[in-house]
Amino acid sequence: MSISAASLITLLLLSSTTTTVISTVELPKSDIDLLEFPLNLEYLEADFFSWGALGGGIDSFEPNLTKGGPPPIGAKKANLSPLVRDIVAQFAFQEFGHLRAIQETVAGFPRPLLNLSAASFATIMNAAVGKALVPPFDPYASDINYLLASYVIPYVGLTGYVGASANLQSPVSRRLVAGLLGVESGQDAVIRTLLYESAMLKVRPYDYTVAEFTDKISHLRNTLGKAGTKDEGLIVEPAAGAEGRIAGNVLAGDKNSVAYDRTPQEILRIVYGSGDETKPGGFYPKGASGNIAKSYLKT
Ligand SMILES: *[C@@H]1O[C@H](CO)[C@@H](O)[C@H](O)[C@H]1NC(C)=O
Ligand SMILES: *[C@@H]1O[C@H](CO)[C@@H](O)[C@H](O)[C@H]1NC(C)=O
Repeated sequence: MSISAASLITLLLLSSTTTTVISTVELPKSDIDLLEFPLNLEYLEADFFSWGALGGGIDSFEPNLTKGGPPPIGAKKANLSPLVRDIVAQFAFQEFGHLRAIQETVAGFPRPLLNLSAASFATIMNAAVGKALVPPFDPYASDINYLLASYVIPYVGLTGYVGASANLQSPVSRRLVAGLLGVESGQDAVIRTLLYESAMLKVRPYDYTVAEFTDKISHLRNTLGKAGTKDEGLIVEPAAGAEGRIAGNVLAGDKNSVAYDRTPQEILRIVYGSGDETKPGGFYPKGASGNIAKSYLKT
């Protein structure tokens, strides 16, 4: 059954390819840059999910999609339950599709160097809680840890797609971004729902609950992004929940529950962990790639 579903997806992707290839020529340069930028995040998600669930990355399953970029540092198979492993494997294959969809529309660039080591995630978690966690946070250790680490990523991509949509000129670009946004926000919703089920449980051996971790990660992203509140944890003050009336916050949104948007600068400040789009680090030791990210890098 999974094989026929996979070949159906492949067929659908192939058939959509032939229509979008023609438009490559016609896309305005600004659209091309805006469509290439999210490849940075899609590469990261593809490798993190693929390694986490399946024990191998893009290089093992779809090597051409790397366009020759170096393999990620420190990614590994996570200690996951069958349910979470199954869901994350689906996310991984979805990300391969996203990479292909973008690369079939614009030329793209090789996968940038990614730091997916446990230490890379531990650094973020330490920054989020404001102290060095002991033992260091290990994203690959358990379902909850892996889901908290996953909480860090698709949401940022989601806000980037919302931000990009307003600046795209071609209907072809807008259609692609809407389609990517739909599935990224679905991934974010699944991750958040799985975490929400355990919101009040402590993340052992630490003294913080799952909800507190999400709140602290979201707060860190708001601080790094330097553009106000665009990120919210799983439990909020009711005033910040939907319609200002509820504390449960399984999906983040503004006062009308419309998704927040982020600019490429804001995204780079967050994924570099530096709060500065000119200072690479975090998941991207050598910086993100493509014209937009490179325009901020001092070389
Ligand atoms: C990958 O790239 C090689 C070299 O360009 C090509 O021969 C091969 O068909 C490609 N594989 C896929 C699955 O696209
Ligand atoms: C990966 O991140 C960790 C934690 O920040 C760091 O110690 C390590 O040097 C990084 N690796 C590379 C190659 O940048």
